[in-house]
Amino acid sequence: MKITTKMEVDEDISSICESTSALTEGCRLPVRMHGTDDWPLAEIVSIKDVEGTKIFYVHYVDFNKRLDEWVSEDYLDTRKVQFPRRDGTATGQNTGVTTPKKFSHSVTGPASRPTSPISLPNNDIVNGSAVLAAALQKKMNRKRKATVVENEETSQDGQNVTPRQSGSMVTHHDDVVTRMKNVEMIELGRHRIKPWYFAPYPQELCQTTCIYICEFCLKYRKSKKCLERHLMKCNIRHPPGNEIYRKHTISFFEIDGRKNKVYAQNLCLLAKLFLDHKTLYYDTDPFLFYVMTEYDSRGFHIVGYFSKEKESTEDYNVACILTMPPYQRKGYGKLLIEFSYELSKFEGKTGSPEKPLSDLGLLSYRSYWAQTILEIFITAKPTGDNEKPTITINEICEITSIKKEDVISTLQNLNLINYYKGQYIVCISRDIIDQHKKAMDKRKIRIDSKCLHWTPKDWSKRSKW
Ligand code: ACO
Ligand code: ZN
Repeated sequence: MKITTKMEVDEDISSICESTSALTEGCRLPVRMHGTDDWPLAEIVSIKDVEGTKIFYVHYVDFNKRLDEWVSEDYLDTRKVQFPRRDGTATGQNTGVTTPKKFSHSVTGPASRPTSPISLPNNDIVNGSAVLAAALQKKMNRKRKATVVENEETSQDGQNVTPRQSGSMVTHHDDVVTRMKNVEMIELGRHRIKPWYFAPYPQELCQTTCIYICEFCLKYRKSKKCLERHLMKCNIRHPPGNEIYRKHTISFFEIDGRKNKVYAQNLCLLAKLFLDHKTLYYDTDPFLFYVMTEYDSRGFHIVGYFSKEKESTEDYNVACILTMPPYQRKGYGKLLIEFSYELSKFEGKTGSPEKPLSDLGLLSYRSYWAQTILEIFITAKPTGDNEKPTITINEICEITSIKKEDVISTLQNLNLINYYKGQYIVCISRDIIDQHKKAMDKRKIRIDSKCLHWTPKDWSKRSKW
């Protein structure tokens, strides 16, 4: 097995490529996406030889990197190849398709800081949820094309393309190794999960077909046997730290990144498998981690988490947020978001998630903001007889702890603001009210502030975290 090195070819339009032998990394061509009949434009990231047969690691140009995959030759349409030029761009017939700037993941920032050994990819990885994710991406691409008034530097929700680098993970330059998924599978408790992105687990582990992770302390092992040995000694059945919330089977544990460093680092490492735009950052001291669990007779099982800076000069109330894939799309993401705002309410502050948001992060936050703000309008009481309810944006911020910019962008996105007789008014149609009620009925689990036992700490008063 060999990994070919990157070659920069300066060639002009070469649309037909007789064989795959001329293909190099950086070439762009239509590739059939696994599990679909679609042939979107893709870029070859890496080529390897497995027992005399070439396979290609491809990135679908207009799609999220979690869909990147190894494909064989017969998935490539070699009739329309764009060869890479020296400046790193591709040239060829199909030049109309490029990665949209604001969704590009090659965000500038400091060099990535993975401190454990990084491994090269091994076996062919087939992404199971490709069809669903491709459909989502198409929907988002359509929406993006329809969106107006956006400048190049800032995206819809004020996300800077070159964000400030904080968070327990920071943005990174794409390089060939970290661009590729390197872990084939993980086992976490009862779940087997296919990773979405690169994470710097030790190389020795990445060469195995599965990494076995203790679902309670998050230590990783190279085999089932090793994990079983670990489980005999590991007797915790919940995350470390304080349980600050419990209602029915849902609990939240607050973990200090300084006091429980190993756990916090292992959590970041695990999360990196599903977070693309962040690179692992081993200094967990400045962060708190809020781990949400679901309880059963075997223990408190991790469902998701978010990290939060102890002190944020930019009013961030979430650095990274993740629902473990087996629990996704069941409302837990919104529950995590709701909890993060509940903490901000206790702190008496407004807050916002750290930028840039991922595609799924943006969807979830937009949906949370829209529902929270609509709920306020719909339940607002008129101030006097025959009067319409009146509420200011600042009041919405105070009630919800959602930062002003996010309230405004949500109202704009929902297209609710109208200018009438010299003042701004919000008009909500019957349709929107009906849709909102249906959506709220689906939100079965909610945060109950009475179950939160927590007093915010003033970290600025401490000499050291
Ligand atoms: N396709 C379409 N819509 C989706 C998808 C999807 N794959 N996933 C979530 N959504 C929508 C849901 O439909 C829902 O909106 P709706 O109620 O209006 O229909 C909303 O997003 C939230 O859904 P939940 O079920 O509450 O969220 P989930 O548990 O799936 O978690 C999260 C959302 C945390 C973003 C999850 O997708 C995830 O962990 N992704 C990987 C990590 C990531 O991208 N994190 C955010 C990075 S940004 C940051 O860290 C600040
Ligand atoms: Zn353990």
